[in-house]
Amino acid sequence: MGRLDNKKVVIVGVSEGLGYATAYFALKEGAQVCINARTESKLRRMREVLNKYGKIEYVVGDVSNITGAKNVIEKCASLINGIDHLVISVGGYIEDTIENFSGLDEMLTNHIKIPLYVINASLKFLKEGSSVVLVSSMSGISKASPDQLSYAIAKAGLAKEVEVLASELINKGIRVNGIAPTTIDGEFEPERNWRKNRKLGDDKAPPEDFANVIIWLLTDESEWIDGVIIPVHGGSRLK
Ligand SMILES: NC(=O)c1ccc[n+]([C@@H]2O[C@H](COP(=O)([O-])OP(=O)(O)OC[C@H]3O[C@@H](n4cnc5c(N)ncnc54)[C@H](OP(=O)(O)O)[C@@H]3O)[C@@H](O)[C@H]2O)c1
Repeated sequence: MGRLDNKKVVIVGVSEGLGYATAYFALKEGAQVCINARTESKLRRMREVLNKYGKIEYVVGDVSNITGAKNVIEKCASLINGIDHLVISVGGYIEDTIENFSGLDEMLTNHIKIPLYVINASLKFLKEGSSVVLVSSMSGISKASPDQLSYAIAKAGLAKEVEVLASELINKGIRVNGIAPTTIDGEFEPERNWRKNRKLGDDKAPPEDFANVIIWLLTDESEWIDGVIIPVHGGSRLK
C-alpha cells in the first residue's frame, strides 16, 4: 500500500532535480502524476523514464500568467482525472543588490505571483483532504546572502503566502504548507543510493532529501500540519 494510492498529484515547474524526484516518489507511493514545465523535451524524457512506476502525464506550458496557469491546470486535471494534491516548485534564481535590483520583477513573478495563479486555477479541483505544497528557501526564512535581494525577498513573501492561503482555505479542509531547502545538489536519478552523497550537517543535499519532505506533506501522515514552512537544512544551520 502506497501512502498516495490513487491520489492525483500535479507538480508545476518541474526541474531535473526537485520536481523530478518528487514525481518519482509520488508514483512510488501510488499516485497518478501530471508534471509541468515549459520544456517539452525534458518532460517527455522524464515520462519515458518514470512510466514504469505508474501513470504519469505531462503538460507543456508557461504558468507566469493567469491564462497560462489555467491552461496547464485544466489539461493536467483532464489527463489524470482530477487533482487531489498540488506541488508548485517553479524556480528561477537571480542575484542582485540594492544598487541594481534587476531581478525583482522576475523573482516576484516566479515566487509570489505564479503560486497564486496556479492555486487560483486549481481551486475548483481541490477539496477536503487536499494538500498544497510550495517551495521557499532557507534564504527566505533565515539568513540570506547580501547578493540575494530580490530572491530572498520573494521567497520570504512566499513563506507568508503559505500562511495566508492556509488560513483562507482552512474552512475547505485544504492544507497549504511549504518547505525551505538549502542548496539542492545536482540532478535526480531514479533508484540510486542518494544518502551516500551527503551527511547530516552538509549545507547542500541531493533532491531526494527535499522531495521526501514534500511527499510527507502530501500524505495523511502530516494531516495536522497546516500553514507552516518546514526548514529542510539537514542540521547545517546548527554549525
Ligand atoms: N536549487 C536550489 O539550490 C534551491 C535552493 C532553495 C530553494 N529552491 C527552490 O526549490 C524549487 C526547485 O528548485 P530547482 O532548482 O529545481 O528550480 P528551477 O530549476 O530553478 O525551477 C524549476 C523549474 O521550473 C520551471 N519553470 C520556470 N518558470 C516556469 C514557468 N513560467 N512556467 C512553467 N515552468 C516554469 C523550469 O523549467 P522550464 O525551464 O522547462 O520551464 C525549471 O526547471 C524552486 O522553487 C527553487 O526556488 C532551490
